Amino acid sequence: MIKKIVLAFFMVAFTLSLASAQQKKLGNETEAQKKQRMKWWTDARFGMFIHWGLYSQAARHEWVKHNEHLTNEQYQKYFDQFNPDHFDPKKWAREAKAAGMKYAVLTTKHHEGFTLFDSKYTDYKATNTHAKRDLVKEYVEAFRAQGLKVGFYYSLLDWHHPDYTMDSAHPLVQEDTSKANYDRLNKGRDMAKYRQYMRNQITELLTNYGKIDVLWLDWSWNKGDKHGKWGDDWGAVELLKLVRKLQPGIIVNNRLGLYDYSDGGDFETPEQVSSKELEKYKGKTWETCQTFSGSWGYYRDENSWKTHRQLLDLLITSVSNGGNLILNVGPTARGEFDYRATNALDSLSYWMHANDKAIYNCTYAPAEFKTPENTKLTYNPQTKRLYIHIYNYPIGGKLILPAYNGKVKYAQFLNDYSELKYNLAANGSDLELILPQNKPHYDISVVELTLQ
Ligand code: GLC
Repeated sequence: MIKKIVLAFFMVAFTLSLASAQQKKLGNETEAQKKQRMKWWTDARFGMFIHWGLYSQAARHEWVKHNEHLTNEQYQKYFDQFNPDHFDPKKWAREAKAAGMKYAVLTTKHHEGFTLFDSKYTDYKATNTHAKRDLVKEYVEAFRAQGLKVGFYYSLLDWHHPDYTMDSAHPLVQEDTSKANYDRLNKGRDMAKYRQYMRNQITELLTNYGKIDVLWLDWSWNKGDKHGKWGDDWGAVELLKLVRKLQPGIIVNNRLGLYDYSDGGDFETPEQVSSKELEKYKGKTWETCQTFSGSWGYYRDENSWKTHRQLLDLLITSVSNGGNLILNVGPTARGEFDYRATNALDSLSYWMHANDKAIYNCTYAPAEFKTPENTKLTYNPQTKRLYIHIYNYPIGGKLILPAYNGKVKYAQFLNDYSELKYNLAANGSDLELILPQNKPHYDISVVELTLQ
């Protein structure tokens, strides 16, 4: 009995301390202010991730340095060789825009430590390769010129920096995870210096390129993970304060490992999850990041490319659960999108041209609208239009809208604004939407309902 009471006491104390821990805040922005700051982003719904770096030459995963335990010396050939002669970010920006993407996030530095920008704090940068110029600057200008919002990815991990200490992801840590081996490898390394290096580089990124809309910092281990890093390892509190000071309007992802803070990041980042799993995020602020084929960097021999339908499903499912999709392209070492990426983007642009009203400014449908069979719903709260994404076009041409009677004013296909008629079903509550025999020329066709 006493044991139970003591246990209950500790449970309550623990829960309270957890609650107060969760309530810690870095800033004093209200929920409404945050919503306003993030409005363009939640309205946009669809962005382009770009993973590009020296690893595109290995063409076998952006983690190749880790996967193959390569030393700086062994990896040096990719720096010496780097010569992206087809790099044309205007073309990237045009493709992103055509596909309906409203923002982009480029890896200014990935885990390999190489910077695509001209940093004062390292020689390991694009300016010192055959490229001989600041590639980030050209990216920023090109995307901005297309009216797209501009984001920077910056890796917290750094597999090149001499002061970055060992952790379970570092390429130099092999099978031997003993303390003795860690101590040996960490000799002479000073994480405090690396923290300063990051601060310096992030300051450069956020002062030298005008207004930056998104900062995507990657990544932290779970709190308590053996040989991991999070929060304090990055000096995250100070870093985030600095970021907000330099760019007050910026939107920052949640991977700094500030687990005790309610405002330690603006949005959640479910990575490569299935569309089924996305349902769990309804009601939160989030962006799912997804690849075309599995890896983020260019991977020549990967054969797991997602189909057009899978990509569409990710986009629709994201919006129908109130989130964003950022879809990744890994340009080749010559600096261009591979034909498979271009084909995928083209097919999205075809669909988006006709159906983007069911994506932008949309979210999940109000609870009173049941999802008709084999469809997904998105909803624009401003225009009060409901969008039915038809996954399996019904043979026989009838789609049952369960208990929609009295709620609909007008129905049409979104792709050509052609009217669709509907009848009241025998049960007096469902509507029967009459669809033509010929399915519109889209993998997933969309019906737009103007609501009462
Ligand atoms: C992961 C990987 C990385 C990729 C990122 C994108 O954390 O480390 O290679 O950049 O996810 O979300």
